[in-house]
Amino acid sequence: MAVELRGDGSALLFVHGFPLDRTVWRHVMATLTGWRRIAPDLRGFGLTPTPGGDYTIADHADDLAALLDALGVERAVVWGLSMGGYAAFELFRAHRARVGGLILCNTRAAADTPEAQRARDETVALLREDGVAALGERMIPALLAPSSLTAMPHVVDHVRAMITAGDPRGLIAALHAMKQRSDATPLLGSIDVPTLVIAGKDDALIPVEQARAMADAIPAALFACVPDAGHLTPLEQPVASTRLVAEFLASLT
Ligand code: MLT
Repeated sequence: MAVELRGDGSALLFVHGFPLDRTVWRHVMATLTGWRRIAPDLRGFGLTPTPGGDYTIADHADDLAALLDALGVERAVVWGLSMGGYAAFELFRAHRARVGGLILCNTRAAADTPEAQRARDETVALLREDGVAALGERMIPALLAPSSLTAMPHVVDHVRAMITAGDPRGLIAALHAMKQRSDATPLLGSIDVPTLVIAGKDDALIPVEQARAMADAIPAALFACVPDAGHLTPLEQPVASTRLVAEFLASLT
């Protein structure tokens, strides 16, 4: 796996969403000093090659556990963004001892509905027929808050660059993996590590109420909703995200 490493201290593992890569964490990774920060590209994304054959979100979690092994890290606080949150749930399910805390950001516990599964198939068809540029044009308005779209051209450019640099085979494999992923809702009541749920107030893909309900189902989870943030809160509002997460991390030590 390609991985970016910074700093020393207790480990903080950043798990990106779809169709992104580790650079989505660039700003928050630069500012959350005092932690050993670990930001990989998941298989099939960024600089990590796409393996042949199908894989699952649980495979991403196994990759993350193997990455922690390779780095000699026993436990990490895991910050999962959207699909990265799906992987964080699987890491908790299968490698519970490795998870010291969870930051569940712009993500959901429920599996895909039949309608969401159909949308995955349409996205696969779009990628096959029209490629990554078309995927970018389709997804960017849904990923970012209206205020980011109009006032943050550098953020729009960064998201477009991540999407258009993607390997279509990796993106298609990830769409299959997300379509088949397990429902993590039954897991929520058993989450016994410190947890922070972060929602974007203008997230068009995960309504704030859905994120709040997920937090309510996790014993002792904290909940925060960030204004002027869409589906990519750490990228759109890095200062607010860093502040929230720094406070959460300080409460752990
Ligand atoms: C993501 O941001 O990772 C995706 O929106 C997740 C999804 O498509 O379910």
